[in-house]
Order: sequence, then C-alpha cells, then structure tokens
Amino acid sequence: MSPTDPPTGRPGDVFAAPLHDGAPLLRVDGLRKSFGDNQVLKSIDLSVDRGDVVALIGPSGSGKTTVLRCLNGLEVPDGGTVDVAGELHLDFASPLSRKQVAALRDRSAMVFQHYHLFPHMTVLQNVIEGPVQVQRRHREEVVTEAEALLARVGLADKRDSHPAELSGGQQQRVGIVRALALRPQLLLFDEPTSALDPELVGDVLTVIKELADEGWTMLIVTHELAFAREVADQVVFMDEGYVVERGDPSVVLREPREERTRQFVRRLLSPF
Ligand SMILES: Nc1ncnc2c1ncn2[C@@H]1O[C@H](COP(=O)(O)OP(=O)(O)OP(=O)(O)O)[C@@H](O)[C@H]1O
Ligand SMILES: [Mg+2]
Repeated sequence: MSPTDPPTGRPGDVFAAPLHDGAPLLRVDGLRKSFGDNQVLKSIDLSVDRGDVVALIGPSGSGKTTVLRCLNGLEVPDGGTVDVAGELHLDFASPLSRKQVAALRDRSAMVFQHYHLFPHMTVLQNVIEGPVQVQRRHREEVVTEAEALLARVGLADKRDSHPAELSGGQQQRVGIVRALALRPQLLLFDEPTSALDPELVGDVLTVIKELADEGWTMLIVTHELAFAREVADQVVFMDEGYVVERGDPSVVLREPREERTRQFVRRLLSPF
C-alpha cells in the first residue's frame, strides 16, 4: 500500500491505522552516521513489526534523535540499509536520489520534542500544510480530515488559534495530528512529553496509547519507562552508537541482561 492511499483499517475513521499483517514494517541494518569526527551511530540494527510499538531508550547524546531523523529523511546516513514495508529498500553506501529521500520521507511522520509548529500559521494551517503542499492532496478533503483528527484529540475549537495561544500539551496534540494527517505508515515520536509540565503529560500519553491500540506502527524515543512498559511491544536500549539490548519491556526494563542497561534503567527510576 502506498502511504498516501486512504487508510483501510476502518472506512471513514480518520484514526484508522494502515492494515497490518505481522511482517516487519521497518528494518534497519548497520545504520551509521557521523557529524564531523563524532561518530554518533556506529551500527544500529532495528526491526519494527507492523502494528507494533517500539520504545527507544538510552542516555542523552546516545543518538536516539539522530536515528529518528535518519528514518524521516532529515539526516542522510553514511552507511547501512533501511527497508520499509518490503517495498522501499535504501542502501546508504551510495548517495540517494532525491526521489528516494522523498519516498523515505513519505513513509514516516515525526512528532518532535518541541512540537515544531509554524508560529505564524493557525492550528489548521499547520496540520494541512504537508498534505496539501507536499503530498499535493485536495485541500477540501485534507481540511475535512484535519478537522476530524483535531476533534478526536479534543482540539476542534482550536482550529483557528495560533500555537502561542495553546498550552504545551495542546501544541503537542496538534503535532500528533499533523503527523497523522500525512497518513504515514510509521509514526516517529521524539520524547513527545519531555518538554511538558507534568500535569500536561497525561493527555498526550493518552492520545499515543490510543494510537497504539488502533494498531499504528510507532517508534518512540521516551524516558517515560512506565509508559514504555505499558505500551511498547519491544524496548531497544542504545548507547554509544550501538544497540546494546532489545527485547520485551518486562525483560529490558525489569531484568536487563546487560550491565549498561541495568545502570541506565536504575538511574531513570531513581535519579537521586
Ligand atoms: N546536526 C548536528 N550536528 C552536529 N552534531 C550533532 C548534530 N545532531 C546531533 N549531533 C550530535 O550527535 C550526538 C547524538 O545526538 P542526539 O540528539 O541524536 O542524541 P539523543 O540520544 O537524542 O540525546 P538526548 O537524549 O539528549 O535528546 C550528540 O553528541 C550531538 O551533539
Ligand atoms: Mg534526543
């Protein structure tokens, strides 16, 4: 299925995730990325099954955001391969064409830590910008879908507001709607609640949990271990440019095999 095909999970339901069949939606092998002489990603392997939620955890500076940015076409990796849905195969050993980068970008949508909404645009304009300007979909259809998505996250009455008039939690829910409006196959979340005041975290996590229950395929960078334990099918711990450990949340977060994972989890659970 092309990512711009209408979602087929439930006709008429704009929250419907793309149908999934249990096969990997995303496979990443040996992903490498340096900034100057700082080798941030040394060799990253990941596999995300369709409909699964994978939580990516790791210390600050370990390269989590860089992984997401590579998958969203915002950074160009130096090496490794990415396969999406068994349809798009990218080998970063040689330079990608503009068409390949566009294809990668079209498969996924990112929700940023600091929302990244355009301040001069209304909520609705923020949501429809990508589908209309980049995906060239019909404005009317996109607006109808955007309004329904905003209603689903409790923001129908904010469509004509500007981001500065919204709370952080509301802005992040707009960020999620903007990602959904792109009809991606894969949702990428970069610490979606870490910039929020504690009392606003719950609303955003509730929306993400709803998406997980709907069957969306998601890769989430998070420090919310309780949330990861509840929602994730797999937890991936990365450090110093490698995946150190991955597996079931009950194992990786409770009884990790690797000492480095154990130290990290312990520190997050009791920081003082
Ligand atoms: N555009 C860039 N130019 C130069 N260095 C960069 C760039 N983006 C990231 N880095 C460096 O890459 C390393 C990994 O950064 P990244 O943001 O991926 O880490 P992270 O795991 O997301 O950390 P955090 O938990 O603090 O968000 C850091 O040392 C960072 O300084
Ligand atoms: Mg980061």
